[in-house]
Amino acid sequence: MADTLTITDNRTGKQYQIPIQDGTIRAMDLRQIKVEPDEFGMMTYDPAFTNTAACRSRITFIDGDKGVLLYRGYPIEQLAEHSTYLETAYLVLFGELPVKAKLDVWVKDVGNHMVVPEGIKKTIEGFRHDAHPMGMFLSTVGALGTFYSDAKSIADPEARRQHAIRLIAKAPTIAAYSLRHTTNSPLVTPDSALSFTGNFLNMLFKLTELQYKPNPVLERALEVLFILHVDHEQNCSTHAMRGIGSSHVDPYSALAGAAAALYGPLHGGANEAVLRMLKEIGSLQNVPDFIKRVKGGEGRLMGFGHRVYKSYDPRAKIIKRVADEVFEVTGKNPLLDIALELERIALEDDYFIKRKLYPNVDFYSGLIYQAMGFPVEMFPVLFAIPRTAGWLAQWEEMLSDPEQKIARPRQVYVGSDRRDYVGVESRS
Ligand code: ACO
Repeated sequence: MADTLTITDNRTGKQYQIPIQDGTIRAMDLRQIKVEPDEFGMMTYDPAFTNTAACRSRITFIDGDKGVLLYRGYPIEQLAEHSTYLETAYLVLFGELPVKAKLDVWVKDVGNHMVVPEGIKKTIEGFRHDAHPMGMFLSTVGALGTFYSDAKSIADPEARRQHAIRLIAKAPTIAAYSLRHTTNSPLVTPDSALSFTGNFLNMLFKLTELQYKPNPVLERALEVLFILHVDHEQNCSTHAMRGIGSSHVDPYSALAGAAAALYGPLHGGANEAVLRMLKEIGSLQNVPDFIKRVKGGEGRLMGFGHRVYKSYDPRAKIIKRVADEVFEVTGKNPLLDIALELERIALEDDYFIKRKLYPNVDFYSGLIYQAMGFPVEMFPVLFAIPRTAGWLAQWEEMLSDPEQKIARPRQVYVGSDRRDYVGVESRS
């Protein structure tokens, strides 16, 4: 009887032994539970998948109660301290930290693929000048697949590696060009002498200088922020990547869909929403009233709360430290005091304590981005660039998992019974 769950169906008096593996039961094992032999069988009902594991994964581990985040077993704190974005991307994609020779090839491969096709520049030119950069980013990533005849080759591991290199390499270029488009500025060709984040800053902020030199503190800060955003297991956008990818569409289309999911204010759009919220609060004396309104159900404290973390988000802790380093260079973001006061009051307030609401990754990241000179609209794009590596790792894992099929949830139908069509002139 060990490692089984006994279910008694009171309708029939029958008992079922359901095997337990890794703390889960298989939903399909419930299908045998039925009253009549021709019935469909028992399903589970789990809107928003709050208690359903949809895959077995080796990529990211989160302990939401203890505030632990591991990529392939490595603590996020150690990666943020010692690694680079491209090394972490390699780790997450391929499962191990690369030896020096492999890392060098990987960095070079990505560096060589940062240039985008001319047609992609024209695609970006086609947008209105006030278009949201995230809208441009996700549409252009989708369009990118149309430039490669092998885009649909997803059964070949070498082709998949090539897609991953292209997408990781071109994401910052598309992002930078989307922003440049909104300011009507000339596009800057990637500079292979620069690091991944240095190059991104170059493509964003280069003016007339012969060679752009990124500030090393800001370059490293962006590197750390990128590492923190690489993956976060089965969140909304990753679920979209896996779900769309499960139809065996090309990865560019799947990634465009994942980026669209990230765009929403309840997900990667939250860092943008945090900044707007802080601006709206405006000054320290308005903080208590704002908290009162949130508790009264008038909106949410953006950047707080998480489906999985029920303690301090470990990424938010690291970001707070990075913020201090960035503000030393850029000067303090005036909205920081409002954010700190919000956090102080919220963490002492019963409403937030009872619901285990703590700052998440988005609470402080926007303040850093703004201090670094990024407009608010760029914030979700800054999330999407590093998450590209995580989405691709999850896509790769999904495709090579023999248990996975096209994603297709069930429903509980609660609509009308069968009825006959009535012509428009006879309807009341
Ligand atoms: N402010 C105020 N109250 C909140 C907040 C918040 N930020 N988040 C949750 N709550 C309250 C809810 O009103 C609910 O209260 P109730 O039990 O009295 O009804 C309770 O806490 C549980 O909230 P749910 O919405 O059920 O929690 P869920 O796990 O579905 O939501 C989410 C998680 C979407 C992140 C939510 O906390 C939220 O909206 N936060 C603000 C947006 C945000 O910061 N999103 C970024 C998340 S991190 C990321 O995606 C990278």
